[in-house]
Amino acid sequence: MKAIIKLGGSLVTHKDRPFSPRKKVIKRIAMEISNAIKEGVKPIIVHGGGSFGHYAASQNIKEKGKLTIDGIPKIIYSMQTLNQIILQALVNHNVPAIPFPPHTFCRVSCKRKIIECNYDSVINSYNKGLVPVLYGDIIVPENRVCDPLILSGDDIVLDLARKITPSIVVYSMDVGGIYSGGLREKRVIKRIKVTKKGVLREKASSTNNVYDVTHGFIGKLKKVEEFILETKNARILFVSGLRPNNIYRSLKGDTRVGTLVTA
Ligand code: IPE
Repeated sequence: MKAIIKLGGSLVTHKDRPFSPRKKVIKRIAMEISNAIKEGVKPIIVHGGGSFGHYAASQNIKEKGKLTIDGIPKIIYSMQTLNQIILQALVNHNVPAIPFPPHTFCRVSCKRKIIECNYDSVINSYNKGLVPVLYGDIIVPENRVCDPLILSGDDIVLDLARKITPSIVVYSMDVGGIYSGGLREKRVIKRIKVTKKGVLREKASSTNNVYDVTHGFIGKLKKVEEFILETKNARILFVSGLRPNNIYRSLKGDTRVGTLVTA
């Protein structure tokens, strides 16, 4: 069973403490992914930046007023540091994980003001039974006419979902799914059918992330919605990865553990 899972930055790091990984959570998640693989799940893993990439990027913006070429190394270093921690946990649990740093196969097209990636090697490794691990990253512009851009892990997930058509796409986070009426109310919506643009935005409450340079939850929902509207039989599950076994169950296709979004 093909699956793509995003490990949200707020799940794998303490988002309000710079460069602070949630090591215990990461280890447990690695174990759950490993258990799912033993039962036939074939995942691609994408993780976010949390208090690594978002913090490093926000420091660059604070200093220079925008993301700049000379800010790139520290941002990449921060993401590779987090990636190493996640990779170590996965490999320790015998997951055949290999990292694919997006800045090595993506570039910013200055003319079109978009990020273009070539996922051929990722798909090749995936088809050989390996588990690609990607992450939100900063992408170098093709020339000096434009600035670097951040590629969110959320976008990578959807790009890859268009290529491998997984049975399930899992967005694991530090909250229980998509909430109605505000986080304080704590009511997770079980299922949302996207019939037209704006449905998710209407239903969801927003979250506040201190260092978020990729538009947080609402930005994510907009893209998910576009994806669902174009890919009619896609299934996307928003789930809390803080609750033990949710990630394992999600990967196995148990959609009761969070909010299921379909067409
Ligand atoms: C952001 O990736 C990466 C950088 C800021 C370099 P994401 O946008 O996927 O990260 P989270 O999940 O929101 O933390």
